[in-house]
Amino acid sequence: MVIVDVAARRVVDVVDLLVAVVAVAAAAASAAVAAAVAVVVVVAVAAPAAGRGGGRGGKAGGKGKGGGSNVVVKPHRHDGVFVAEGKEHLLVTKNLVPGESVYGEKRIAVENPNAAPSTSDSSTAAKIEYRVWNPFRSKLAAGVLGGLDNIHIKPGAKVLYLGAASGTSVSHVADIVGPEGIVYAVEFSHRSGRDLINMAKKRTNVIPIIEDARHPAKYRMLVGTVDVIFADVAQPDQARIVAFNAEYFLKNGGFVVISIKASCIDSTAQPEAVFAEEVNKLKKSSFRPREQLTLEPYERDHAMLVAEYRRVCLFMCI
Ligand SMILES: C[S@@+](CC[C@H](N)C(=O)[O-])C[C@H]1O[C@@H](n2cnc3c(N)ncnc32)[C@H](O)[C@@H]1O
Repeated sequence: MVIVDVAARRVVDVVDLLVAVVAVAAAAASAAVAAAVAVVVVVAVAAPAAGRGGGRGGKAGGKGKGGGSNVVVKPHRHDGVFVAEGKEHLLVTKNLVPGESVYGEKRIAVENPNAAPSTSDSSTAAKIEYRVWNPFRSKLAAGVLGGLDNIHIKPGAKVLYLGAASGTSVSHVADIVGPEGIVYAVEFSHRSGRDLINMAKKRTNVIPIIEDARHPAKYRMLVGTVDVIFADVAQPDQARIVAFNAEYFLKNGGFVVISIKASCIDSTAQPEAVFAEEVNKLKKSSFRPREQLTLEPYERDHAMLVAEYRRVCLFMCI
């Protein structure tokens, strides 16, 4: 099995790829402790359907090499996330729309050990399909591989995703929360929003919202109370945007997971100073920081911050 169409990658990407493989292997080592047993055995490595994407993580429509090699998929310690262990170890999510890639990412079809005997030779019911989740293309994946203790995004969760772009990472979040969960995906660029809307046509647990996240009042009719806010808007006022959205939508005791790009906030200050200042801003807005890590080697001068929301209540909080 191969992770990407290596031949089509730039040299720097090959180096990145090796780093990713090593990191997933490390993550899998800890995942193995949590995983009771391997759940499935690969019967095929699917080449992706034609689609956008490429760059780090594979060219759109790239071919899967070595189809049919044995791979075992195990649950990662984060519920709803998996590790495909073959020649390489890959972070994967269970494809909510089997047979389709979203941005040209590789898919891995595996035997479903729980398939009823009568369906064991039918192609879909007898198999489970996973999509490779590339940490160079998704900061949340980078955070998972970086060792976040809890991403709070899990099956059944209700997530408000700020800075959805064209839906690359959102699609994996949709896989993780599954049919019982929901992802409200906010993006203000109409160009990216078109792709986001197209992705959501098939992933019906995604509600695309083409609006400015600075104005949650404009989409309050579309969004219910959420368990988690994930923010990746890369704006200098991101902390304020997150706090404002939390006031509207985040349940008391809910969590925010924030990707902080230091240069977007203050390109003259040291990244560590920028991260510390962002933490201070959140503390002043009813958040209690729980975790923080940098996203090296996947993203330079980025941090991922997890904080709990504790609403200030004069009488009773709901
Ligand atoms: C770093 S990219 C997000 C990448 C995406 N999270 C992913 O992993 O695929 C930041 C996105 O936030 C969007 N954005 C920036 N400010 C925004 C705002 N105020 N409201 C909504 N979207 C915003 C940008 O248009 C851009 O698509």
